[in-house]
Amino acid sequence: PRKVIIDCDPGIDDAVALCMALFDPRLEVLAVTAVAGNVTADQSTRNVQALIEQLDPPRYPRLGAATPTESLAMVDNRSLYGEDGLGNVGLVSSKLARQHPSEKLICDEVRAAPGEVTLICLGPLTNIAAAITREPQLISMLGRLVIMGGAVNGIGNATSAAEFNIYYDPHSARQVFRSPTTKSLIPLDVTGQVTFSLDLLDQLPPETSRAGSLLRRTLPHLFRTYRRDLGLEGILLPDAVAMAAALHPELFTTRDLTGDVETAGELTLGATVFDRRSTAHQRGDMEVALEVDAAGVADCIVRALVDAGKQ
Ligand code: BDR
Ligand code: CA
Repeated sequence: PRKVIIDCDPGIDDAVALCMALFDPRLEVLAVTAVAGNVTADQSTRNVQALIEQLDPPRYPRLGAATPTESLAMVDNRSLYGEDGLGNVGLVSSKLARQHPSEKLICDEVRAAPGEVTLICLGPLTNIAAAITREPQLISMLGRLVIMGGAVNGIGNATSAAEFNIYYDPHSARQVFRSPTTKSLIPLDVTGQVTFSLDLLDQLPPETSRAGSLLRRTLPHLFRTYRRDLGLEGILLPDAVAMAAALHPELFTTRDLTGDVETAGELTLGATVFDRRSTAHQRGDMEVALEVDAAGVADCIVRALVDAGKQ
């Protein structure tokens, strides 16, 4: 199986992505590391532990704790995902285990299997930047780096110009975007094309399964907030789409571009910028997903969830 580390800020869509990965026999989830974003660092750490306890996967990953980053926490997504990030359904962990800081765990696991680990980033890039700062050689030891974030068409969600994960910590995002390795980016442009209607609730695994119980409790909350706040009948699951990209890259059309992050703009803080001039001769080191087989990805997500419910 392919070794992966999942860095996330659960978040209901992060939780869906975890369900997809933890039961997939093709993956060996070495670690799940928490980062502040949708919710605070502490809540994110608690949510990661609660999710793993609830799902009780066949092989337990190591868990990483998020480091509080006060100055950055100017936004969150509690209005979308609920005060606790997971739909306020009372998902709680037993006593919080003592955990390593996320960036240390990432360094340890990547160093232990150089060239073999796929790092899947579903939240702000704080931990990845911290890991690179701690160990600059780390980036060249990664097998693959998959990032959910940014917007190629310039249409954000946290602000009119910026996507949430990048906006939350633009300096870390810039450091990761500029790091000398190939990055696979799954931007809002493509995650926004995969929509799920209420039918999704009928396709989920049974309530009696661990994954089914989690999904059937949390996803209705997301349908309610999408309707209430955005006037939409369907929902998006950006992190699940990014997980699908890690599992099935053939469902996406990518282009090699150079990407960077705006860290000073008054209106554009956290916006991603890509060089798409026809004169841009140098090949970029960011493999950016620009098109997606939306039906294929939705299908792959539902199938992964159904499989998760069989365990
Ligand atoms: C990203 O921000 C969060 O709302 C989601 O969990 C996802 O990682 C989408 O912009
Ligand atoms: Ca997320």
